[in-house]
Amino acid sequence: DSADNFRFTLSPHPAPVPAAQRAALLADPGFGRVFTDHMAVVRYKEGQGWHNPTIEARAPIPLDPAAAVLHYAQEIFEGMKAYRAADGGVVMFRPDANARRFHQSAERMAMAPVPDALFLEAVRQLVRVDRDWIPEGENASLYLRPFMIANEAFLGVKPSSEYLFIVIASPVGSYFSGGAVSVWVSEDYTRAAPGGTGAAKCGGNYAASLLAQREAKAQGCDQVVFLDAVEHRWVEEMGGMNIFFVMDDGSLVTPPLSGTILPGITRDAILTLARDRGLAVREEPYSIDQCYADAASGRLKEVFACGTAAVVTPVGRLRGKRGEIVIGSGNGADPVTESLRAALIGIQRGQLPDPHGWVQRV
Ligand code: PLP
Ligand code: COI
Repeated sequence: DSADNFRFTLSPHPAPVPAAQRAALLADPGFGRVFTDHMAVVRYKEGQGWHNPTIEARAPIPLDPAAAVLHYAQEIFEGMKAYRAADGGVVMFRPDANARRFHQSAERMAMAPVPDALFLEAVRQLVRVDRDWIPEGENASLYLRPFMIANEAFLGVKPSSEYLFIVIASPVGSYFSGGAVSVWVSEDYTRAAPGGTGAAKCGGNYAASLLAQREAKAQGCDQVVFLDAVEHRWVEEMGGMNIFFVMDDGSLVTPPLSGTILPGITRDAILTLARDRGLAVREEPYSIDQCYADAASGRLKEVFACGTAAVVTPVGRLRGKRGEIVIGSGNGADPVTESLRAALIGIQRGQLPDPHGWVQRV
């Protein structure tokens, strides 16, 4: 699976966004609304395998109305970021881990896996072609969205025999507007059940989360946190990020990878960075009752969300049917969260040593 087997044909955009207009867009990109000039596209067909890798102008994709993805939601995606390093180079954070997770998601959804080398080459080629779209600034990055859809035109329910693997890119600022976020505890809706698709990054998981997220907004919260689908008791993860709890002895608790939550790459990095610092970390079930009790007793000091989009975001308040609790100072500037966040960002942006070899040049 060497990258040499995948030579991308470049068809440059005939009319790329002019530099002045691009600069204006990059000054305040928001999250996920501005897109670069190009996209990577690779096709799969049973019998032919992966073929025709191209970098081409970003444009709508023609789809047959019977394409399997439109009916049975055979779709997976990834989220990763490219940064402008201090020396002017471009770096990415653990792209190999995204490639691996994309492979695992494909297997869970009975899709043709994209070879890791092809996944990485597609991302690298797109970042190189659109490198002028990487925004400058402390919270800015180029968000990459690799995804795969089933595009066989056929209405029978079976795994598609054709797929499209595409990578698009979006210059982004912070996912949240700043400070601590508030989180709604969803008790009426669950995200994923044992044996389901919770550990896969498939679109369906997000479709299923939207009503709960809307409820969170209606309750004045920024995000939703889900409880387990069997006992409605154990904290799982948020709509688009994993969750950590920091106790008064400095130890960290985060829900285990039980198969119903996404194995976050940021989560894994935080666990490693915490252990590096000599903090005790426990990947173990934590109940919402315990959470309320620990907040009341003062044992629970900090809560944070982590993910590619959210990076490390402090949680200031938890709200649910049993009332509201304020975490720590409530405004999020709490020490363990802040120190882990600074350590992670420093490595991601090439400003701190990278002892685990997480950062790759593009
Ligand atoms: N959980 C969910 C549901 C997510 O969508 C994400 C974001 O990708 C995460 C967790 C965090 O994963 P990662 O750190 O790999 O971005
Ligand atoms: C990511 O962090 O990459 C996600 O997919 C989550 C979403 C909130 C953008």
